[in-house]
Amino acid sequence: MIAITGASGHLGKATIQCLLQKMDGENIIAIVRDPSKLKEFLKDGIDIRTADYEDPGSLNEALKGVGTLLQISTTSMGERGMQQELNVVDAAKKQGVRHLIYTSGLKPREEAHFFAVQQCLKTENAILSSGISYTILRNSLYLETIPLFIGKALEDGNIYLSAGQGKVSFVGRKDIAEALSIVLTETVHRNKIYEITGAEAFNFEELARLLSEQTGRQIGYVDIPDEALKDELLKIGMPDEETEWFLSLTRSIRHHEFADIEPALESLIRRKPVSVADYLKVFNDAI
Ligand SMILES: NC(=O)c1ccc[n+]([C@@H]2O[C@H](COP(=O)([O-])OP(=O)(O)OC[C@H]3O[C@@H](n4cnc5c(N)ncnc54)[C@H](OP(=O)(O)O)[C@@H]3O)[C@@H](O)[C@H]2O)c1
Repeated sequence: MIAITGASGHLGKATIQCLLQKMDGENIIAIVRDPSKLKEFLKDGIDIRTADYEDPGSLNEALKGVGTLLQISTTSMGERGMQQELNVVDAAKKQGVRHLIYTSGLKPREEAHFFAVQQCLKTENAILSSGISYTILRNSLYLETIPLFIGKALEDGNIYLSAGQGKVSFVGRKDIAEALSIVLTETVHRNKIYEITGAEAFNFEELARLLSEQTGRQIGYVDIPDEALKDELLKIGMPDEETEWFLSLTRSIRHHEFADIEPALESLIRRKPVSVADYLKVFNDAI
């Protein structure tokens, strides 16, 4: 049986949809905090189990009889997030999961600026020392995060960020889901680590230019200091911890930590990944 944690999220649901094209729902276990979020899959016969990353007992129960587990990284930050991820690895080990697939961040290292990537590295290390066979997909930033970065640029005319000239090899969530469904169902990916990126990388000046071309509006990029971005985020009511987290992300972009382009995704899905231009076109058509 294949189980997926974080199954009620965007990536989890998209992965289930890809898996359903390869196998019957009876072979899939979706692990969620709130089963009502998976109503659309009830007709497919998926086994929906309840567990919280915070609660080792619930994880142990939910992982009974699971051979292959997709562990989707948590949305929690700091020590709490770290403990949640370790709880999943521990439960997988206790329940005899044979193969663990984890969604990590691009090229994690201890000096990485983005807090989430530092967290992913610790989880990767726990998985590697657990003795369970693994596949790790180290994902670049989602295309779907672009609206967060561009903010109100379509109204105000400028993207304001402290990301310098750093480029990002944005990658679409649906492409990652397709790749996950492949590594979940093919044994040749065991004990492999894949860096998952789009086929091109953009800095925010280039992104603003592309947005201008596509919308016919003049959109620019203003590289602002960290402190100015922090003031803006706090002004709009972002909590302190999230603000620091977001600043760690823009710092990492500025230091080119999301800039690398790697061929693994295209090799896995055997086609070009969805591009930034494709994504922006659909996004612009929708607003
Ligand atoms: N590469 C990127 O650009 C990027 C961007 C954003 C996030 N991420 C990471 O990638 C992951 C998947 O992305 P996504 O878009 O699918 O995120 P998402 O839509 O926010 O989904 C997150 C999933 O994690 C589950 N979850 C969170 N805390 C949990 C807990 N304590 N116990 C059990 N489940 C918990 C959520 O459950 P509920 O439905 O119950 O909340 C949800 O199913 C995220 O969780 C995050 O670690 C990456």
